[in-house]
Amino acid sequence: MGRVTAMALASMGAQVIVVDWEGEEGTRTRDLINAASGRDAAEFRYCDISSLDDVRRLAAEVQTAWPALHVLVNNAGITDPVRRLSVDGWEMHLATCHLGHFLLTQLLLDMLERSAPARIVNISSDAHKAGKGLDFDDINNEKIWGGRRVSNNAAFVAYHRAKLCNVYFTLEMAERLDGTGVSTYAVSPGYFVNTTIYRNISGLFRIGAGVVFGVGTLLGLNTPEKGARTQIYCAADRGLETLSGRYWSGCRDVPLSALARDADARARLWAFSVEATIA
Ligand SMILES: NC(=O)c1ccc[n+]([C@@H]2O[C@H](COP(=O)([O-])OP(=O)(O)OC[C@H]3O[C@@H](n4cnc5c(N)ncnc54)[C@H](OP(=O)(O)O)[C@@H]3O)[C@@H](O)[C@H]2O)c1
Repeated sequence: MGRVTAMALASMGAQVIVVDWEGEEGTRTRDLINAASGRDAAEFRYCDISSLDDVRRLAAEVQTAWPALHVLVNNAGITDPVRRLSVDGWEMHLATCHLGHFLLTQLLLDMLERSAPARIVNISSDAHKAGKGLDFDDINNEKIWGGRRVSNNAAFVAYHRAKLCNVYFTLEMAERLDGTGVSTYAVSPGYFVNTTIYRNISGLFRIGAGVVFGVGTLLGLNTPEKGARTQIYCAADRGLETLSGRYWSGCRDVPLSALARDADARARLWAFSVEATIA
């Protein structure tokens, strides 16, 4: 969906910075965008978003090489049953889906404010509702793997928590950005969009997901193009500036879930994220 989004924004006239931790995939996306647009609309920058040093390097490169930044789409995400740690020691769902985006956004905030009107689009998921919320006694997702190396269930819990972090982050940022001309949106792309996100899931769930993906694709319901519609809308549609801090699904702002409204968890996550990435 990141590629679809970058292509769509370039087709509207934007200069796009494509970021990936896979050099081949990233340069392929850049080349596809430049071929489709008939101009040098895209550049590729390498970054493992789970690595805080990589994020710092990317932010510095962007600030040096581009005069302005109008839209930041925090899209990268994973679902991985193997318990892995980032180079900084954070569990990979937390590091990839939340901490990297958190730090990148903080480092680019000055640039976004100078470029205002500007937007930050955070790709969350309705999976943020499907669990018990954040556990601040297990913020690094150690207990949920319970000593196992591989667990689909643990991956879903870690993913649920990370996607809830995306919503808290959006709500907190919206308040902090009030009056700056920078607005922010949390997006749910829908269910079982046919991308590579579930490629590491195994067993019965993989078979089930394969069936859902197959049927959805046959009916044209869950293509990456359909899944990316709401994030493209939040990145580029006119008139959304007054709707900062909302949760979007199907190109509409929809009510926040009960978990998302937990102001105490939101404040604790903010304090933890600052401590983990900046302090
Ligand atoms: N698919 C769904 O049904 C669905 C539903 C709700 C929300 N979402 C969200 O939508 C967003 C996009 O996911 P998608 O479905 O399009 O899945 P995807 O095809 O797997 O795309 C995720 C992208 O993130 C990249 N990525 C993963 N780890 C990274 C890292 N450490 N550094 C830099 N890039 C990294 C992946 O690169 P590689 O492929 O090279 O690893 C891939 O390009 C995610 O935030 C996901 O949580 C998806």
